[in-house]
Order: sequence, then C-alpha cells, then structure tokens
Amino acid sequence: MPYAPHFLLRLRSGLRSWLNLLSEWDYQIPIGSVRFLGLNLFLVNEPAAVKRMLVDEVDHYPKHPLTLWILEPLIGRAIFSVNGPEWARQRRLMDQAFQVAQLRKVFPQMGGAVTAMLARLDAAAAGSAGETSAGLTTVDIDQEMTLVTADVIVRTILSRPLEAAEAGELFEAFSRYQRRAGQALMLRFLRLPEPWLQRYLAHHAGKIRRWIEAAIDQRRADQDGSPEDGPQDLLQALIEAQDPETGSSFSTAELLDQVCFLFLAGHETSASALAMAAQQVL
Ligand code: HEM
Repeated sequence: MPYAPHFLLRLRSGLRSWLNLLSEWDYQIPIGSVRFLGLNLFLVNEPAAVKRMLVDEVDHYPKHPLTLWILEPLIGRAIFSVNGPEWARQRRLMDQAFQVAQLRKVFPQMGGAVTAMLARLDAAAAGSAGETSAGLTTVDIDQEMTLVTADVIVRTILSRPLEAAEAGELFEAFSRYQRRAGQALMLRFLRLPEPWLQRYLAHHAGKIRRWIEAAIDQRRADQDGSPEDGPQDLLQALIEAQDPETGSSFSTAELLDQVCFLFLAGHETSASALAMAAQQVL
C-alpha cells in the first residue's frame, strides 16, 4: 500500500522541497505524481522514460521556466536551465572543455584530491576521535564525500586545492542555497511575490558568485602576456573554447555563470552518489 502520512505533516516537510510531498510509493512506480496548488508535479523513475525526456525527445520536454527562475540568482543563464539555440551554443562550447583529451589533463588534479582524502582518513584512523567502544574509527561519509568532490571540482577548474577555510564557508553556502531555493520554490507555489523571493536567493548566491568572479579575474590578470603558459584546467579550456559555428567564445559574464553551475553540478551530485555507494559497500 502507498505510504501516506498525515497531509499536514507532508505539507510541512513539503515546504522544504516539493519532493517531500510525494509518498514512498511515488518512487516505486514508473512515474510518480502529485497535484499541488493547481500544478501537476511528476517524478520520473523509469529509465526508458528518463531517456525519452532527456535524450530522444528532448525538444518536447524543454526545461521548465521555474528551473531558470530558481537557479538564475546563482548560475545566471548557464547551460543547465536554458533551451533551444541558447543551450545549443553553450553546449558546443562546453563540449570542448569536456573532451576526453581535455579531461585527461585534469586526471592528476583529481588524483591529488583523492590522495588528500586518503591522508585525512589515515589521520582519522590514527587519532582517537570518533573511535567506538569496539576500537573502530567512524567517519561521516557524507561529509567526507562532499569534501573530496568539492576538492576535485576546485582542483580541476582552478588548478589549486580547496583550502580548509573555503571548504567550510563556500560549500556550506552552496548547500544553503540549495535548501533556500527549494523553499523559495514552494513559497512561490504559494504565490509569494517573485521579486522578493529572487532578491532573497540573490543575497545567498552573492558570496559564491563573488568568490568565483575573483578567481576568474585573477586568472585573466595572470594570463596577461603569456596565456599559452597558463594552467591546463577546465577554466582555461572554457576561456579558450570557440564555437565552431559562430567563432564566438564565452563572454566574462557567461563564463562566471558556467563556472558557478559547474561548481554546483559537479560536487553535490557526485558526493551523494559516492556516499550512497560507500554505504552499500561498508
Ligand atoms: C552522479 C553525478 C551526477 C548526476 C546524477 C548528474 C545529473 C545531471 C542531470 C539530471 C542533468 C540534467 C540533464 C538535462 O536536463 O538535460 C545534468 C546536467 C549537467 N551536468 Fe550533471 N550530474 C552529475 C555530475 C556532473 C559533473 C561531475 C559535472 C561536471 C563537472 C556535471 C555537469 C553537467 C552539465 C554541464 C550539465 C548540463 C548538460 C546540458 O544541459 O547539456 N554533472 N546532470
């Protein structure tokens, strides 16, 4: 039988994210759905249906304007939330940065993040903090996977490790934004004024965007004169990418949007997948 807790309890947790409005049952059927304040919301579980929407018939399933609205304060009009020719041009540029040859160049950076993680785990095992009565050391795997994937993304984009202070501040700001964005979406469903909600989200995104903007400005400043000696990372690949159809490159504003998106897309998703996998194995 479908799991159906009290409607008001579901509504309360639904204010954190609309996914909480769904029941366990919705995750087990091919396509779960809920009708909420006049909107039909769907959760697509079946791989064939996911492929149909994201690959085969992508033109029939454009990204919803709400995706753009909710993420715009953080990622502007980056590839994730736009459609049509605007998406296609960004994709042609992005594809260059993610070619296999380019990715090979950042493998050592990824290896560096993994080595740093193993050193942290060894240090935890050697110390007594977190030790159980049976003498086993416990680690918070979610936190550790978030840290290592954040480190991978900083190293592969900027060619430098994630500093401990940034790890706490910056990546906490990302997860705070994700939480606030989920709430803002629900409040918008409840018809709270849009400009007010976007200002609220922009406030939370501001710190992240300023940090990334400073990193891009620094790179541009370092490059004055001899760009060919610059680092071989994803930021460099995005700066150098040229659209084969129009010859255009990412403008500085577009670059900021794409890099903000890659920070968002690249760490929490992989961290959740890795943490889930680790929990299955351990
Ligand atoms: C387990 C990890 C990941 C999951 C589950 C995941 C999931 C997704 C999903 C569902 C989309 C939306 C697809 C669409 O609307 O068409 C997406 C788009 C995207 N993701 Fe990921 N992602 C992961 C890791 C990453 C990483 C590590 C990066 C890069 C560093 C990345 C970069 C992107 C980009 C650039 C797009 C936009 C693609 C486009 O619109 O053409 N993702 N991802």
